[in-house]
Amino acid sequence: MKNSIFIVVPLLAVMAFATADAVQYKATNNAQGTSGGARFNQQIGINYSKKIMAAASSFIWTTFKQAPADRKSVNLITLIIESMSGVAYTSNNEIHFSADYIGNYSGDVKTEFNGVMYHEMTHVWQWNGQGKAPGGLIEGIADFVRLKANYAPSHWVKPGQGDRWDKGYDVTARFLDYCNGLKGGFVAQLNAKMKDGYSNDFFVQLLGKTVDQLWSDYKAKYGNQ
Ligand SMILES: *[C@@H]1O[C@H](CO)[C@@H](O)[C@H](O)[C@H]1NC(C)=O
Ligand SMILES: *[C@@H]1O[C@H](CO)[C@@H](O)[C@H](O)[C@H]1NC(C)=O
Repeated sequence: MKNSIFIVVPLLAVMAFATADAVQYKATNNAQGTSGGARFNQQIGINYSKKIMAAASSFIWTTFKQAPADRKSVNLITLIIESMSGVAYTSNNEIHFSADYIGNYSGDVKTEFNGVMYHEMTHVWQWNGQGKAPGGLIEGIADFVRLKANYAPSHWVKPGQGDRWDKGYDVTARFLDYCNGLKGGFVAQLNAKMKDGYSNDFFVQLLGKTVDQLWSDYKAKYGNQ
């Protein structure tokens, strides 16, 4: 009995440590009656979705080089499959995924689902410069993660294509991949800086060149296509 305090204290410390980075994942299919909802059940499913959400979180933390203390504080991430237009969107740690998109997708729907989920999960975890970062950069970082996870679909622009660095999505993702090639961990450092605000000068601070110079170097590397 006298010794029990020595057992209890370390045990509580271990439990506190274990819950510090525990994230809960929930998924629901609100489109049960639709053909897209049925295809989700048959080819993807709730359990698989939760597995992908956990795998995406780990991948994103690794890509962003974040220790638990560096991550956003998020306890619960929810996926909702619902009948809606478009593909998917994320707000308040809730990912809304279109059952109609799943139903109409021609090709390997599971791979497409994974790719979209890595993009949306990045929106949960990435910093947005306190709302000041360009939307195109936010979308580009989400697609950069999708690219690094090997889920870039074949219809994406090829490296060097596009008119503006902050066009967003695949165009910005390919550019960020070029920047990341100049200095490993660039995107992780950029995201870390975006915790407190945003300035295009972050590119100068991290790579020694303005973002416009980097964009024209990038375009020139691929023959200004
Ligand atoms: C999903 O996971 C739960 C809990 O692990 C399990 O009980 C259930 O059988 C699984 N469902 C399917 C369809 O695999
Ligand atoms: C395809 O999308 C339309 C809406 O754009 C929807 O009404 C229809 O149910 C979808 N088809 C399938 C098979 O999910």
